[in-house]
Amino acid sequence: MEVIRDAGIDELLALCGGCLSCATCHVHVDPAFADKLPPISEDEADLLDSSDHRDENSRLSCQIALSEELDGLKARIAEED
Ligand code: FES
Repeated sequence: MEVIRDAGIDELLALCGGCLSCATCHVHVDPAFADKLPPISEDEADLLDSSDHRDENSRLSCQIALSEELDGLKARIAEED
């Protein structure tokens, strides 16, 4: 989330600043990276359930800590609910 925001992409609202309480950092992650992502927590899953646009590649970008393993990760910002 911070990488997207710091790149000046303002379509990602991230209103709670990464506190896992808003779901406005919803992204669809390239399935090629699915195995490398941290596991989804129950709280993240509950928040994603509030989106009409959730799919199997949905994640809250504030819950993805970037690492070397995730170098090149592609994500598409989810449609606004
Ligand atoms: S920024 Fe609010 S849940 Fe991610």
